[in-house]
Amino acid sequence: MLTLQPAMAAPPIVIKFSHVVDENTPKGIAAMEFKRLAEERTRGRVKVLVYPNSSLYKDREELEALQLGAVQMLAPSLAKFGQLGLRDFEVFDLPYIFPNRQVLKTVTQGAIGRELLAQLEDRGILGLAYWDNGFKVMSSNSPIRMPEDLKGKRMRIQPSRVLEAQMEALGATPLPLAFSDVYTALETGLVDGTENPPSNLYSKNMHEVQKYVAVTNHGYLGYAVIVNRKFWNSLPADLRLTLERCIADATRKNDDEAEKLNATALIKVKQFKNTQVHTLSPAELELWRKALEPVHRRMESRISKDLINSIRKAAAAQAAASAAIELR
Ligand code: LMR
Repeated sequence: MLTLQPAMAAPPIVIKFSHVVDENTPKGIAAMEFKRLAEERTRGRVKVLVYPNSSLYKDREELEALQLGAVQMLAPSLAKFGQLGLRDFEVFDLPYIFPNRQVLKTVTQGAIGRELLAQLEDRGILGLAYWDNGFKVMSSNSPIRMPEDLKGKRMRIQPSRVLEAQMEALGATPLPLAFSDVYTALETGLVDGTENPPSNLYSKNMHEVQKYVAVTNHGYLGYAVIVNRKFWNSLPADLRLTLERCIADATRKNDDEAEKLNATALIKVKQFKNTQVHTLSPAELELWRKALEPVHRRMESRISKDLINSIRKAAAAQAAASAAIELR
């Protein structure tokens, strides 16, 4: 007699999501939110394995692993796409190009952001969203207040030609290092200082090995949430749609957390007894802007002028709109 076997449920589709930051950061929290939503809403048809803190791959390796299909999802800093030859992504690294988060959002959520993500496709990568982590501060083991205070210092950067030019404009020597190596590089004196949003600085305890922080907010740090294109296109259409909605909700979660977490991290660094945090006066901020202005001109041969001008136009439009509101 035939015994009907219960239909064997197909094994779950596994998404390995690798990243390099601590879990208690905007990206760390958003990755776990994506996991929660994806597993809940696909009723277990998808399983998301999140590997924080470079526990699976470090910076450079993770991009290669994604292209090889060894991991399915990443959210690398926008500063890390230049090493794939995608130079326009380094526009986000230009000092003071974004006056505030609003202009940043106009760019990432509009045509400029979409066009940039489209550049990923011929590298076997699909860009699904942008995640925010706010503006960077400078830190060092020697006092920082004025731009010239970094003269002669060795400064860790992400692998971006714009960030190289930024540090050179300050008379410092840039040293690209993987994020997972930064704490040790600071602790051993391999580098004197670095730059990062407060949430990254604090969550990696860099304040323990950095005596001075200047709240320069000189540059932006954000992420592109990316997947291996072949993997993503192989998913059943209904699953892809559900996962896209999970990404959209995780993006909201990330952006809600980013401002709070960075503000809290900065307060905690200020409370740390061995670190002095200097908030720039308007006059000092002006000196930093001036000192970093040459970076824009120097990078015009590397980043499309139209792209830079469209961002400047978006900034001017936002400034005019806010001025009009104030005049009402
Ligand atoms: C860095 O390398 O400094 C950052 O990109 C780390 C991160 O992903 O926020």
